[in-house]
Amino acid sequence: MCGIIGILGAKDVSQPIVEGLKRLEYRGYDSAGVATIQNGAVDRRRAAGKLNVLVDVLEKDPLPGIIGIGHTRWATHGAAIDANAHPHATETVAIVHNGIIENFRELREELTEKGRHFESATDSEVIAQLVCAYMSEQMSPAEAFRKMLSRIRGAFAIAAIVGADEDLILVARKGSPLAIGRGDNEMYVGSDAFALAPFTNRVTYLDEGDHAIVTRGGFEIFNEAGEPATRQEIVSSVGDALVDKDGHRHFMAKEIYEQPEVIGHTLSRYVDPTTGALHEAAHAFDFKSIDRLIISACGTAYYAGLIAKYWFEAWAKLAVEIDIASELRYRDIPYAENGGALFISQSGETADTLAALREAKSQGQRIAAVVNVPESSIARDADVVFPTAAGPEIGVASTKAFTCQLTTLACLAIAAGRQRGVLSEEAEGRVISALMETPRLLAQALQQEDKIEKISGDLANARDILYIGRGVNFPVALEGALKLKEISYIHAEGYAAGELKHGPIALIDEQVPVVVVAPSDRHYEKTISNMHEIIARGGRPLLISDAEGIKNAGEVWAAIEAPTVDPMMAPIVYAAPIQLLAYFTATTKGTDVDQPRNLAKSVTVE
Ligand code: M6R
Repeated sequence: MCGIIGILGAKDVSQPIVEGLKRLEYRGYDSAGVATIQNGAVDRRRAAGKLNVLVDVLEKDPLPGIIGIGHTRWATHGAAIDANAHPHATETVAIVHNGIIENFRELREELTEKGRHFESATDSEVIAQLVCAYMSEQMSPAEAFRKMLSRIRGAFAIAAIVGADEDLILVARKGSPLAIGRGDNEMYVGSDAFALAPFTNRVTYLDEGDHAIVTRGGFEIFNEAGEPATRQEIVSSVGDALVDKDGHRHFMAKEIYEQPEVIGHTLSRYVDPTTGALHEAAHAFDFKSIDRLIISACGTAYYAGLIAKYWFEAWAKLAVEIDIASELRYRDIPYAENGGALFISQSGETADTLAALREAKSQGQRIAAVVNVPESSIARDADVVFPTAAGPEIGVASTKAFTCQLTTLACLAIAAGRQRGVLSEEAEGRVISALMETPRLLAQALQQEDKIEKISGDLANARDILYIGRGVNFPVALEGALKLKEISYIHAEGYAAGELKHGPIALIDEQVPVVVVAPSDRHYEKTISNMHEIIARGGRPLLISDAEGIKNAGEVWAAIEAPTVDPMMAPIVYAAPIQLLAYFTATTKGTDVDQPRNLAKSVTVE
């Protein structure tokens, strides 16, 4: 989603701004731009497409200036064309914006009636027009910026520069993250510490509703009420090296193959390998005094939560209510007194998850968060944070973040079981030793790469693909379908195997492959019966099971062998074949695996 960077520099800034934008590329975008001030005037370069198009434009037509702002845009209002790319500018003001201005239509009408001319179809341009209009009424830039903030409704992170001042960046945050970085006689603003890392590790995050006046000498922050506010400066732990593909063709491939290692890192945060019991860190949340746990997240993180529901119910006898965050946030939930709520997010910035968390918090729920980015908004708003140790995930399709979320959630469900007196010490040891096996088994599953690549060659021609699974593997089917559709653009749906007969089976014919996720567990026979119902209707089942499961299944269109695994841990290990299946299907089709069309890594608008 949109990325922002701004620099008050000692020398020309357009080149470093582009470097900062490169670090925001992973968020997903469809155009980019930079604006600077020189000789008292705003100038800018913008280009639809990838950053290298903007780099070409800047090479042909350089943009000098020691103050500037840059932006990668993920289109919401208005097509991905040059004219809609940020920065948006008037004669005196340039702005970049991440978020959505909900009341932009009425503001645009009002400003047009006053004679202001709009040149884009975006909601964001009203920000520049409003600041400019108020400045022409003799307000100072800071006053005009504040007045603009009082008029707009919606979610935003904004950075603005004004034509007459080469020592001023104005910023604001509501709903979308924004950080200020302090350098040596230079100041920076950006969407996250990752973007700022090449310049500084001294980072101050704005709180909700804050705005700030940034100059080379420092910055002043004001809260939503306009009162001066102090926000803590942190030393960011984000490294400045750009994460590379480590010899892989795509970040997604690198991240799939990293899983055994990063699951190991995640385990070492929560499990003491010498005793085979949980570390104190896994017990940081009080599961004992709650009767019900609400879990919420979006996309892949939501599927991780769905799997965790089975674990919390089985190991901790804890009732779990789970919903996707974009629904949960607007429901009239009768929240339990002293209830608990758990939110899961790789980025820690997903707008719906953050809003659902804040709603639950305002209703008196104790909040736990499983996040991969420890400095993120969700981490900062939660009462207790359980970090995953996946490391930066660059591919838009979540892979290693998913399995690290599962690993963390498994530890939390075990902790809940222990705290609630449901799981004995001996049972804890048994479950943990099964969990400790998962990195090795997942590595073994990855060895099926060649076979999976071959099968993917056939899948790439399909128009629709179904995925089915049962019990703890039902969400694995959902995740498999999501992975496939987001990077290969093939229509795919996941179903609980038992639901097939209630509708989806009507879709089955010889053109429709059905991926059947069926390890040898207590559901195996039932799922295999469902698979035979597919075969009887001419469908093409691709069975993913262990050696025993494949042997007992009868004839299938294709099979992928997974290692034998403790049934409850299967989702962590079976993640590997379903990820590889999606990956190779996408590479066969030649899609943009790491930055698939229309998608963003960090979804900071609702
Ligand atoms: O950063 P988050 O974990 O909160 O992101 C949630 C979803 O946007 C994310 O999992 C998305 O579904 C992925 N593209 C799936 O691969």
